[in-house]
Amino acid sequence: MSATGEAERVAVVGSGSIGVAFAIVFARAGFRVALHDPVPAARERAEAELAERLELLAEAGLLPGGVGAAAARISLHATLDEAVAGCALVQECAPEQRELKRELFALAAAAAPAGAVLASSSSAIPPSELADGLPEDAAGRLVVGHPGNPPYLLPVLELVPSPRTDPAVLARARDVYERAGLRVVELRREVEGFVFNRLQGALLREAYCLVRDGVVDVDGVDEIVRSGLGRRWSVVGPFETSDLNVRGGIAAHAERMGGAYARMGAERGQHDPWSPELVDTVAAQRRAILPLERWDERVRWRDRRLTALTAVWDDGARNGGEA
Ligand SMILES: NC(=O)c1ccc[n+]([C@@H]2O[C@H](COP(=O)([O-])OP(=O)(O)OC[C@H]3O[C@@H](n4cnc5c(N)ncnc54)[C@H](O)[C@@H]3O)[C@@H](O)[C@H]2O)c1
Repeated sequence: MSATGEAERVAVVGSGSIGVAFAIVFARAGFRVALHDPVPAARERAEAELAERLELLAEAGLLPGGVGAAAARISLHATLDEAVAGCALVQECAPEQRELKRELFALAAAAAPAGAVLASSSSAIPPSELADGLPEDAAGRLVVGHPGNPPYLLPVLELVPSPRTDPAVLARARDVYERAGLRVVELRREVEGFVFNRLQGALLREAYCLVRDGVVDVDGVDEIVRSGLGRRWSVVGPFETSDLNVRGGIAAHAERMGGAYARMGAERGQHDPWSPELVDTVAAQRRAILPLERWDERVRWRDRRLTALTAVWDDGARNGGEA
């Protein structure tokens, strides 16, 4: 709530796939959302998409307040100035073009309240490039808030500062996103592709190589992820997977498997073996999260989660599934 007792307001700039999805995320959590797109046809399409997606969420029981209440919190605007007035955060969701985004941030910085966070959904443009040429005050408020697609179903958000971002702004951005129900992963520094797409890219590079080399076909790769890696990763990430796959945890896993993974990397011209120091760092972080005394308990927890997921999933398949 704002000081006036009204729900806090956010502006979403660009009403394509990600803009509409962010509008749903914020409205579902009780924020007022001003959604801007300069293209009339895009605003019309957004209105139809919002109605359809809110309905789907409500049918699945994922919109406790109902469609009407969430929809009433979203307004569509033809001008940027009108949309960013009085907002706590601007979520820019315009096309992935550096110059266009820079221009939008210059305009938004001038029209939004002085303290508003300026966040970009960019998938691959580092925030320092978006802040290039902006006055210090605006650059200090600029971050990348990169979502998964669609963010109302994939709740993770990468929060990426530039070297010029004010730490207080990062904290404010995290606070807004967390109140919107997103789980924030803050990167310590910007890197090309951030983390989400670097991980995705590593897998995709290898998948292309395997298809090129005739080892497997495209659907074979997808099946291994759908029915294997992906299903497990929806419960535990790759580090926790390795930690729980070998008694003794991730240090034991690295000892057993490190050589094989180094050879696979070398085959692709990548020479990044897991040094003993690196394994120590990773193992120390895992042990801080899960002491080895609780390892068996956590393995049972993973299996219970996978069992519950499999029951829902395979029940869907038994019922005929969907295209
Ligand atoms: N689609 C994804 O999977 C995905 C995932 C994460 C992040 N992103 C990022 O989100 C951003 C938006 O991607 P998208 O897939 O929603 O694109 P999109 O093409 O679906 O939507 C872009 C929207 O921006 C509007 N637009 C054009 N010029 C504008 C302007 N001057 N001001 C405001 N709006 C303008 C367009 O009319 C369109 O509605 C991109 O930076 C993209 O990299 C996309």
